[in-house]
Amino acid sequence: MSASPRPDIASILARSRAIPVLVIEHLEDAVPLAKALCQGGLPVLEVTLRTDVAEDSIAAISEGVPEAIVGAGTILTVSDITAAERAGSRFLVSPGAGPALLEAIAECRTPFLPGIATPSEAMTLLERGIEHMKFFPAEAAGGVSMLRSIGGPLPGLRFCPTGGITPANASDYLALENVLCVGGSWMAPAKLVRAKRWNDIAALAREAAAL
Ligand code: 3PG
Repeated sequence: MSASPRPDIASILARSRAIPVLVIEHLEDAVPLAKALCQGGLPVLEVTLRTDVAEDSIAAISEGVPEAIVGAGTILTVSDITAAERAGSRFLVSPGAGPALLEAIAECRTPFLPGIATPSEAMTLLERGIEHMKFFPAEAAGGVSMLRSIGGPLPGLRFCPTGGITPANASDYLALENVLCVGGSWMAPAKLVRAKRWNDIAALAREAAAL
């Protein structure tokens, strides 16, 4: 049992209608990328733990871009939680949650957004008092109609769908009562990051922030 109330993932998700999901390949890109996204109006950033520089990138953004709320994505194991917290992550995101991760989430002091793709997975989280979830992989797992259907029997749940979200379908998700925000990689495409086209990324962020 935790000693004090868990910080609130809902208040972080409420800060932005769209959360960039970032795969940072080079540490030198972390700060300018985060600055561009923040300038475009997207302050909540998920840095996936999929590259060797992910943790250092989170630390660099925390230090160098105070307007950013930087979290860690692709949390798969208990040791990922430790590493992400050590780097200064303000929130944590997982694509799903097995038994060991569920236990760790219950003890975790950092706001956590675990992923689900089915009603049963959502109910497993709900049994543990978790009402805010990532819906992943959103398009492949049934998209807007799946989330609308889940909202029937489970109206109290709130989602951040991620996986296959684009400027073309984001508004359909955001129109759902049970969707607080969407996540995706489209605001920071690898091609633009590699070319260090920060102004173009800021422009994509502006469009996403206006959704
Ligand atoms: C991911 O975990 O990779 C995110 O869901 C991003 O998915 P996307 O690249 O389809 O936006």
